Amino acid sequence: MATLRHFLQMKDLAKDELAYLFDRTRIIKARFKAYQRYWPLQDRTLVMIFEKASTRTRLSFEAGMHQLGGSAIYLNTRDSQLGRGEPVEDAAEVISRMSDIVMIRTYEQEIIERFASHSRVPVINGLTNEYHPCQILADIFTFIEHRGPIQGKSVAWIGDSNNVCNTWLQAAEVFDFKVRVSTPPGYEVEAERAGLHGTDHFEQFADPMVAARGADLVTTDVWTSMGFEAENEERLRDFADWQVDAEMMRAARSDVLFMHCLPAHRGEEVAAEVIDGPHSVVWDEAENRLHTQKALMEFLLLGRVED
Ligand code: CP
Ligand code: NVA
Repeated sequence: MATLRHFLQMKDLAKDELAYLFDRTRIIKARFKAYQRYWPLQDRTLVMIFEKASTRTRLSFEAGMHQLGGSAIYLNTRDSQLGRGEPVEDAAEVISRMSDIVMIRTYEQEIIERFASHSRVPVINGLTNEYHPCQILADIFTFIEHRGPIQGKSVAWIGDSNNVCNTWLQAAEVFDFKVRVSTPPGYEVEAERAGLHGTDHFEQFADPMVAARGADLVTTDVWTSMGFEAENEERLRDFADWQVDAEMMRAARSDVLFMHCLPAHRGEEVAAEVIDGPHSVVWDEAENRLHTQKALMEFLLLGRVED
C-alpha cells in the first residue's frame, strides 16, 4: 500500500513527482482518447465535499474516478451535517473510514489541513481561498503540451492576487519559471499567503502592460472570487484597468498563450476577442483538469505504477 500523501498545495509534491504525474497524464489521456478501458482504481471510492459552487472540478473528478474504474460520491455542506456545525475533525474520521480518497473545496486552507490531519486516506485540495493546486497542474500540463518545458519561461498574471495566482507563484519555485504579477493598488500579492521564499521567481508591476511585456503566457481570473461577493461593486471599479485585451496580448511574445481557469466574465477580466481568439487555449486547459487529476488520484492511491 502506498504511504499516505495529501495534495493540499502545489509544493506538497516534489518536482520529480510532478514530472512523473505529467508522464502518467500523457499515458492516461492517450488511453482515454483511444477508448481503452483503464481501471486501476476499481472498487475505490472518491468522496467530493463542496462548500462552494463548481462545474469543472466536480465534473472532472467525478468523471475521472468513473473512468478509472471507481465511483464518486458528491456531498455538499448545505445538505450534509458539515453545514450544521459537525467538527471538521469528526467528519474526517468518519468519511475517511468509508472511502479511499477525498477531495474538498472549501474556504480557509486551515479547514482542509485540519481535515487531512484526521484523515486515513489522501485528501486533495479542490480549491480554497488560498490555493487551487489542481488547476495549476492542468495549466502547466497544457503549457507543456503546446510549448514544451515551462522552465525559464515568463508567465504574466493580470488581476487579482487570489488562490490561482498564489498557486502559480508556488509552481514557479518548483518548476523554475518567472511570474510577473500586476494587480491594482491594495490587491498586491501577500508574500506570506503565497508562500514565497524569495523574489527570484516573482516580480510585481504597477502597470499590467509592463507585466505582459515579452510573456510566454498571459493568464487571469475573475475579479471577485467565491466568498468575496460582498466586495463585487468595489472590485469592478478597482480592476477596470486590469482587463486582458488585444493590446495587452500584443505586448507579449507573438506566440503567447492565453489561459483562464474559468468561469470567465467577458468584458471584465478578459476581452471576448482574447478568450475566443487565436492565442487562447482555455478549452484544452479545462479538459486537462480531467487527465491530470486522474494521474493525481492514481499516484496518491497506488504510488508509482509501471504500466
Ligand atoms: N476552474 C474551476 O475550478 O472551475 P469550477 O469552479 O467550475 O470547478
Ligand atoms: N479564483 C476563483 C477561481 C474559481 C475556479 C474563485 O476562487 O472563485
